[in-house]
Amino acid sequence: MNFPKAKKITTQRYEGGLSKIPGVTKSIKLSSNESALGCSSLALQAFIKTKNKISKYPDSNSSLLKKTIASKFKLNQDRIIVGCGSDEIISFACQAFLEKKDEVIVPQFSFLMYRIYSQINGAKVVAAKEKNFKTDIYAILKCVTKKTKIVFLANPNNPTGTYLNKSELKTLRNKLPSRVLLLIDDAYCEYMQTKDYTSGLELFKNSKNVLVTRTFSKIYGLASLRLGWGYASKDVISSLMNVKPPFNVTAGAEAAGVAALKDTKWIKKNIKHNNIWSLQIYKKLKEKKIKCNFPSANFFLMQFDKSCDANNVFKKFAQSKIILRKMNNYKIKNSLRVTVGNAQECRLFIKLLDRIF
Ligand SMILES: Cc1ncc(COP(=O)(O)O)c(C=O)c1O
Repeated sequence: MNFPKAKKITTQRYEGGLSKIPGVTKSIKLSSNESALGCSSLALQAFIKTKNKISKYPDSNSSLLKKTIASKFKLNQDRIIVGCGSDEIISFACQAFLEKKDEVIVPQFSFLMYRIYSQINGAKVVAAKEKNFKTDIYAILKCVTKKTKIVFLANPNNPTGTYLNKSELKTLRNKLPSRVLLLIDDAYCEYMQTKDYTSGLELFKNSKNVLVTRTFSKIYGLASLRLGWGYASKDVISSLMNVKPPFNVTAGAEAAGVAALKDTKWIKKNIKHNNIWSLQIYKKLKEKKIKCNFPSANFFLMQFDKSCDANNVFKKFAQSKIILRKMNNYKIKNSLRVTVGNAQECRLFIKLLDRIF
Protein backbone atom coordinates (compact mmCIF):
# COMPACT_ATOMS: atom_id res chain seq x y z
CA MET A 1 0.00 0.00 0.00
CA ASN A 2 1.23 3.55 -0.74
CA PHE A 3 0.96 6.00 2.11
CA PRO A 4 1.04 9.80 1.92
CA LYS A 5 4.65 10.86 1.94
CA ALA A 6 5.59 14.11 3.64
CA LYS A 7 8.49 16.14 2.34
CA LYS A 8 11.78 15.40 4.01
CA ILE A 9 12.55 17.93 6.73
CA THR A 10 15.83 17.27 8.48
CA THR A 11 16.06 20.45 10.50
CA GLN A 12 16.08 20.11 14.29
CA ARG A 13 12.77 20.92 15.98
CA TYR A 14 12.56 23.93 18.26
CA GLU A 15 12.51 23.10 21.95
CA GLY A 16 11.36 25.93 24.19
CA GLY A 17 12.64 26.44 27.73
CA LEU A 18 11.36 23.90 30.26
CA SER A 19 8.40 25.17 32.26
CA LYS A 20 8.20 22.42 34.88
CA ILE A 21 10.53 20.31 36.95
CA PRO A 22 9.09 16.82 37.50
CA GLY A 23 7.84 16.46 41.06
CA VAL A 24 8.25 20.16 41.84
CA THR A 25 5.21 22.35 42.38
CA LYS A 26 5.52 26.05 41.67
CA SER A 27 8.83 25.95 39.88
CA ILE A 28 10.38 29.27 38.88
CA LYS A 29 10.79 29.56 35.13
CA LEU A 30 13.84 31.59 34.17
CA SER A 31 14.32 29.72 30.91
CA SER A 32 12.41 31.64 28.22
CA ASN A 33 13.22 35.34 28.62
CA GLU A 34 9.62 36.18 29.46
CA SER A 35 8.63 39.37 31.24
CA ALA A 36 9.70 39.55 34.89
CA LEU A 37 6.61 41.46 36.02
CA GLY A 38 3.90 40.02 33.77
CA CYS A 39 1.68 42.23 31.64
CA SER A 40 0.10 45.63 32.19
CA SER A 41 -3.23 45.43 34.04
CA LEU A 42 -4.70 47.63 31.28
CA ALA A 43 -3.69 45.02 28.71
CA LEU A 44 -5.28 42.29 30.78
CA GLN A 45 -8.52 44.27 31.11
CA ALA A 46 -8.59 44.93 27.39
CA PHE A 47 -8.09 41.23 26.72
CA ILE A 48 -10.92 40.26 29.07
CA LYS A 49 -13.26 42.77 27.46
CA THR A 50 -13.05 40.82 24.19
CA LYS A 51 -14.63 37.74 25.77
CA ASN A 52 -18.03 38.41 24.25
CA LYS A 53 -16.55 38.48 20.78
CA ILE A 54 -15.06 35.02 20.65
CA SER A 55 -17.74 33.60 18.33
CA LYS A 56 -16.76 36.13 15.64
CA TYR A 57 -13.65 36.21 13.49
CA PRO A 58 -11.19 38.96 14.43
CA ASP A 59 -10.21 41.85 12.16
CA SER A 60 -7.90 40.10 9.72
CA ASN A 61 -6.03 43.35 9.10
CA SER A 62 -5.51 44.12 12.83
CA SER A 63 -6.24 47.73 11.86
CA LEU A 64 -6.49 49.18 15.36
CA LEU A 65 -3.18 47.64 16.39
CA LYS A 66 -1.46 48.86 13.22
CA LYS A 67 -2.84 52.35 13.84
CA THR A 68 -1.59 52.32 17.43
CA ILE A 69 1.86 51.03 16.42
CA ALA A 70 2.09 53.65 13.63
CA SER A 71 1.22 56.46 15.99
CA LYS A 72 3.52 55.31 18.84
CA PHE A 73 6.59 54.76 16.67
CA LYS A 74 5.82 57.37 13.97
CA LEU A 75 5.53 54.82 11.18
CA ASN A 76 3.53 54.32 8.02
CA GLN A 77 0.62 52.03 8.84
CA ASP A 78 0.71 50.50 5.35
CA ARG A 79 4.20 49.16 5.96
CA ILE A 80 3.25 47.12 9.06
CA ILE A 81 2.35 43.43 9.15
CA VAL A 82 1.00 41.78 12.30
CA GLY A 83 1.61 38.16 13.19
CA CYS A 84 0.97 35.38 15.63
CA GLY A 85 4.21 36.18 17.43
CA SER A 86 7.21 37.73 15.70
CA ASP A 87 8.03 34.12 14.97
CA GLU A 88 5.29 34.11 12.37
CA ILE A 89 6.76 37.19 10.66
CA ILE A 90 10.08 35.32 10.40
CA SER A 91 8.20 32.39 8.92
CA PHE A 92 6.43 34.69 6.41
CA ALA A 93 9.78 36.12 5.30
CA CYS A 94 11.12 32.62 4.67
CA GLN A 95 7.98 31.47 2.85
CA ALA A 96 7.80 34.59 0.72
CA PHE A 97 11.47 34.95 -0.23
CA LEU A 98 13.21 31.58 -0.09
CA GLU A 99 13.43 28.96 -2.79
CA LYS A 100 15.55 25.85 -3.18
CA LYS A 101 19.21 26.68 -3.79
CA ASP A 102 18.89 30.05 -1.99
CA GLU A 103 21.17 30.72 0.94
CA VAL A 104 20.62 32.58 4.18
CA ILE A 105 23.25 33.78 6.64
CA VAL A 106 22.81 33.56 10.40
CA PRO A 107 25.33 34.38 13.13
CA GLN A 108 26.83 31.22 14.64
CA PHE A 109 24.86 31.38 17.91
CA SER A 110 21.56 32.97 16.97
CA PHE A 111 17.86 32.38 17.56
CA LEU A 112 17.13 28.92 16.17
CA MET A 113 13.92 29.78 14.31
CA TYR A 114 15.90 31.58 11.57
CA ARG A 115 17.54 28.27 10.68
CA ILE A 116 14.43 26.18 11.12
CA TYR A 117 12.13 28.25 8.87
CA SER A 118 14.87 28.71 6.28
CA GLN A 119 15.50 24.98 6.05
CA ILE A 120 11.79 24.15 5.95
CA ASN A 121 11.61 26.42 2.91
CA GLY A 122 14.49 24.64 1.21
CA ALA A 123 17.28 27.19 1.72
CA LYS A 124 20.83 26.42 2.78
CA VAL A 125 21.81 27.95 6.10
CA VAL A 126 25.29 29.42 6.32
CA ALA A 127 26.53 30.21 9.83
CA ALA A 128 28.88 33.18 10.21
CA LYS A 129 31.52 32.67 12.90
CA GLU A 130 31.28 34.88 15.97
CA LYS A 131 34.06 36.40 18.05
CA ASN A 132 33.62 36.00 21.80
CA PHE A 133 29.94 35.26 21.31
CA LYS A 134 29.42 38.48 19.37
CA THR A 135 28.14 38.78 15.79
CA ASP A 136 30.99 39.61 13.44
CA ILE A 137 29.77 41.71 10.52
CA TYR A 138 32.88 40.95 8.45
CA ALA A 139 32.37 37.22 8.95
CA ILE A 140 28.80 37.70 7.67
CA LEU A 141 30.03 39.66 4.65
CA LYS A 142 32.52 36.90 3.84
CA CYS A 143 29.64 34.40 3.67
CA VAL A 144 27.72 36.36 1.02
CA THR A 145 27.40 34.65 -2.36
CA LYS A 146 25.20 35.19 -5.41
CA LYS A 147 22.70 32.85 -3.77
CA THR A 148 22.33 34.83 -0.52
CA LYS A 149 18.74 36.01 -0.03
CA ILE A 150 18.38 36.90 3.66
CA VAL A 151 20.71 37.79 6.52
CA PHE A 152 19.12 37.25 9.94
CA LEU A 153 20.21 39.16 12.98
CA ALA A 154 18.73 39.52 16.47
CA ASN A 155 19.99 42.70 18.09
CA PRO A 156 20.61 42.25 20.99
CA ASN A 157 21.16 38.61 20.24
CA ASN A 158 19.51 35.69 21.97
CA PRO A 159 21.10 33.60 23.52
CA THR A 160 24.44 35.44 23.78
CA GLY A 161 23.18 38.82 25.06
CA THR A 162 25.71 40.70 22.91
CA TYR A 163 24.80 43.34 20.34
CA LEU A 164 25.98 45.28 17.32
CA ASN A 165 26.24 49.01 17.79
CA LYS A 166 24.73 51.59 15.47
CA SER A 167 27.82 52.01 13.33
CA GLU A 168 28.33 48.25 12.93
CA LEU A 169 24.71 47.85 11.83
CA LYS A 170 25.03 50.68 9.33
CA THR A 171 28.27 49.28 7.95
CA LEU A 172 26.70 45.86 7.56
CA ARG A 173 23.74 47.22 5.60
CA ASN A 174 25.98 49.43 3.44
CA LYS A 175 28.34 46.61 2.56
CA LEU A 176 25.68 43.96 1.90
CA PRO A 177 24.43 43.81 -1.68
CA SER A 178 21.18 45.77 -1.90
CA ARG A 179 19.35 42.66 -3.23
CA VAL A 180 19.92 40.88 0.12
CA LEU A 181 17.12 41.31 2.65
CA LEU A 182 18.44 42.12 6.13
CA LEU A 183 16.04 40.91 8.83
CA ILE A 184 16.70 42.65 12.13
CA ASP A 185 14.92 41.10 15.05
CA ASP A 186 14.31 43.79 17.69
CA ALA A 187 12.75 41.34 20.19
CA TYR A 188 14.66 42.74 23.20
CA CYS A 189 15.26 46.34 22.03
CA GLU A 190 13.19 47.98 24.79
CA TYR A 191 15.60 46.74 27.49
CA MET A 192 18.69 48.26 25.87
CA GLN A 193 20.29 51.16 27.75
CA THR A 194 23.75 51.48 26.22
CA LYS A 195 24.38 54.72 24.34
CA ASP A 196 25.89 53.13 21.24
CA TYR A 197 22.79 50.95 20.69
CA THR A 198 20.09 51.89 18.20
CA SER A 199 17.17 49.62 17.41
CA GLY A 200 16.74 48.19 13.92
CA LEU A 201 13.46 50.08 13.61
CA GLU A 202 14.97 53.47 14.43
CA LEU A 203 17.91 52.96 12.15
CA PHE A 204 16.22 51.39 9.14
CA LYS A 205 12.61 52.58 9.14
CA ASN A 206 13.13 54.22 5.77
CA SER A 207 15.10 51.39 4.23
CA LYS A 208 13.85 49.37 1.26
CA ASN A 209 15.75 46.19 2.06
CA VAL A 210 15.43 45.77 5.82
CA LEU A 211 12.63 43.92 7.58
CA VAL A 212 12.41 44.69 11.29
CA THR A 213 10.50 42.40 13.65
CA ARG A 214 9.11 43.26 17.08
CA THR A 215 7.36 41.17 19.70
CA PHE A 216 4.84 41.54 22.51
CA SER A 217 6.26 38.43 24.21
CA LYS A 218 9.12 40.07 26.08
CA ILE A 219 8.82 43.46 27.80
CA TYR A 220 5.06 43.64 27.15
CA GLY A 221 4.48 40.34 28.94
CA LEU A 222 2.03 38.87 26.42
CA ALA A 223 3.94 35.74 25.33
CA SER A 224 0.94 33.46 25.63
CA LEU A 225 -1.23 35.63 23.36
CA ARG A 226 1.27 35.24 20.49
CA LEU A 227 1.60 38.71 19.04
CA GLY A 228 4.34 40.35 17.00
CA TRP A 229 4.79 42.64 14.02
CA GLY A 230 7.10 43.52 11.20
CA TYR A 231 8.03 46.77 9.43
CA ALA A 232 9.49 47.03 5.95
CA SER A 233 9.00 48.64 2.56
CA LYS A 234 5.57 48.38 0.96
CA ASP A 235 6.97 45.84 -1.53
CA VAL A 236 8.40 43.57 1.16
CA ILE A 237 5.21 43.81 3.23
CA SER A 238 3.11 43.04 0.18
CA SER A 239 5.16 39.86 -0.41
CA LEU A 240 4.66 38.83 3.22
CA MET A 241 0.92 39.51 2.94
CA ASN A 242 0.79 36.89 0.14
CA VAL A 243 1.54 34.14 2.64
CA LYS A 244 -0.26 35.53 5.72
CA PRO A 245 -3.20 33.35 6.77
CA PRO A 246 -6.46 35.20 7.34
CA PHE A 247 -7.31 35.93 10.99
CA ASN A 248 -3.83 34.97 12.24
CA VAL A 249 -4.14 37.37 15.19
CA THR A 250 -6.98 36.95 17.68
CA ALA A 251 -9.18 39.83 18.85
CA GLY A 252 -7.98 39.29 22.43
CA ALA A 253 -4.33 39.53 21.42
CA GLU A 254 -4.95 42.64 19.34
CA ALA A 255 -6.86 44.42 22.13
CA ALA A 256 -4.21 43.53 24.72
CA GLY A 257 -1.45 44.70 22.37
CA VAL A 258 -3.11 48.08 21.82
CA ALA A 259 -3.50 48.66 25.57
CA ALA A 260 0.04 47.42 26.31
CA LEU A 261 1.57 49.87 23.85
CA LYS A 262 -0.28 52.75 25.47
CA ASP A 263 0.71 51.86 29.04
CA THR A 264 4.07 53.66 29.02
CA LYS A 265 4.18 53.74 32.82
CA TRP A 266 4.21 49.95 32.90
CA ILE A 267 6.92 49.73 30.25
CA LYS A 268 9.11 52.20 32.19
CA LYS A 269 8.60 50.17 35.37
CA ASN A 270 9.77 47.05 33.56
CA ILE A 271 12.85 48.79 32.18
CA LYS A 272 13.75 50.13 35.64
CA HIS A 273 13.29 46.69 37.18
CA ASN A 274 15.48 45.11 34.51
CA ASN A 275 18.22 47.72 34.98
CA ILE A 276 18.34 47.26 38.73
CA TRP A 277 18.33 43.48 38.76
CA SER A 278 20.54 42.97 35.71
CA LEU A 279 23.22 44.92 37.48
CA GLN A 280 22.84 42.92 40.70
CA ILE A 281 23.04 39.63 38.81
CA TYR A 282 25.96 40.82 36.70
CA LYS A 283 27.92 41.89 39.80
CA LYS A 284 27.31 38.56 41.49
CA LEU A 285 28.33 36.58 38.38
CA LYS A 286 31.55 38.61 38.18
CA GLU A 287 32.21 38.04 41.89
CA LYS A 288 31.84 34.29 41.27
CA LYS A 289 34.12 34.56 38.21
CA ILE A 290 31.39 33.24 35.91
CA LYS A 291 31.86 34.68 32.41
CA CYS A 292 28.79 36.38 30.97
CA ASN A 293 27.61 39.19 28.69
CA PHE A 294 27.38 42.77 29.96
CA PRO A 295 23.85 43.74 31.05
CA SER A 296 21.84 44.23 27.84
CA ALA A 297 18.49 42.47 27.42
CA ASN A 298 16.63 40.55 30.15
CA PHE A 299 18.97 37.55 30.30
CA PHE A 300 22.57 36.43 30.78
CA LEU A 301 24.53 33.70 29.10
CA MET A 302 26.64 32.13 31.85
CA GLN A 303 29.78 30.38 30.63
CA PHE A 304 31.41 28.09 33.15
CA ASP A 305 35.06 27.16 33.30
CA LYS A 306 36.36 23.60 33.30
CA SER A 307 36.06 23.25 37.06
CA CYS A 308 32.30 23.42 36.79
CA ASP A 309 29.79 21.34 34.82
CA ALA A 310 26.75 23.23 33.46
CA ASN A 311 24.56 20.13 33.81
CA ASN A 312 25.37 19.94 37.51
CA VAL A 313 24.66 23.64 37.95
CA PHE A 314 21.33 23.16 36.14
CA LYS A 315 20.45 20.31 38.52
CA LYS A 316 21.39 22.27 41.62
CA PHE A 317 19.21 25.20 40.61
CA ALA A 318 16.39 22.83 39.68
CA GLN A 319 16.54 21.25 43.14
CA SER A 320 15.76 24.73 44.46
CA LYS A 321 12.92 25.14 41.95
CA ILE A 322 14.70 27.44 39.48
CA ILE A 323 14.64 26.37 35.82
CA LEU A 324 17.49 27.70 33.69
CA ARG A 325 17.95 27.20 29.94
CA LYS A 326 20.38 24.57 28.72
CA MET A 327 22.41 25.64 25.71
CA ASN A 328 22.93 22.23 24.07
CA ASN A 329 20.58 23.01 21.15
CA TYR A 330 22.55 26.16 20.46
CA LYS A 331 25.78 24.13 20.61
CA ILE A 332 27.24 26.45 23.24
CA LYS A 333 29.40 24.35 25.49
CA ASN A 334 29.20 24.27 29.27
CA SER A 335 26.83 27.23 29.50
CA LEU A 336 23.37 28.11 30.81
CA ARG A 337 21.10 31.08 30.17
CA VAL A 338 19.17 32.81 32.94
CA THR A 339 16.29 35.26 32.54
CA VAL A 340 15.99 38.22 34.91
CA GLY A 341 12.96 37.32 37.04
CA ASN A 342 10.93 39.33 39.53
CA ALA A 343 12.60 40.66 42.69
CA GLN A 344 11.91 37.56 44.76
CA GLU A 345 13.15 35.27 41.98
CA CYS A 346 16.30 37.34 41.47
CA ARG A 347 17.04 37.29 45.21
CA LEU A 348 16.71 33.51 45.26
CA PHE A 349 18.89 33.18 42.14
CA ILE A 350 21.63 35.31 43.75
CA LYS A 351 21.36 33.40 47.03
CA LEU A 352 21.77 30.11 45.17
CA LEU A 353 24.80 31.45 43.29
CA ASP A 354 26.34 32.15 46.69
CA ARG A 355 25.47 28.68 47.91
CA ILE A 356 26.64 26.78 44.80
CA PHE A 357 29.80 28.75 43.99
C1 LIG B 1 15.46 36.83 19.29
C2 LIG B 1 14.06 36.32 19.35
N1 LIG B 1 13.22 36.56 18.34
C3 LIG B 1 11.96 36.12 18.36
C4 LIG B 1 11.46 35.41 19.41
C5 LIG B 1 10.06 34.89 19.36
O1 LIG B 1 9.18 35.82 19.77
P1 LIG B 1 7.61 35.63 19.62
O2 LIG B 1 7.12 35.14 20.92
O3 LIG B 1 7.12 37.00 19.27
O4 LIG B 1 7.35 34.66 18.51
C6 LIG B 1 12.28 35.12 20.50
C7 LIG B 1 11.78 34.33 21.63
O5 LIG B 1 12.44 33.95 22.53
C8 LIG B 1 13.62 35.58 20.47
O6 LIG B 1 14.46 35.35 21.47
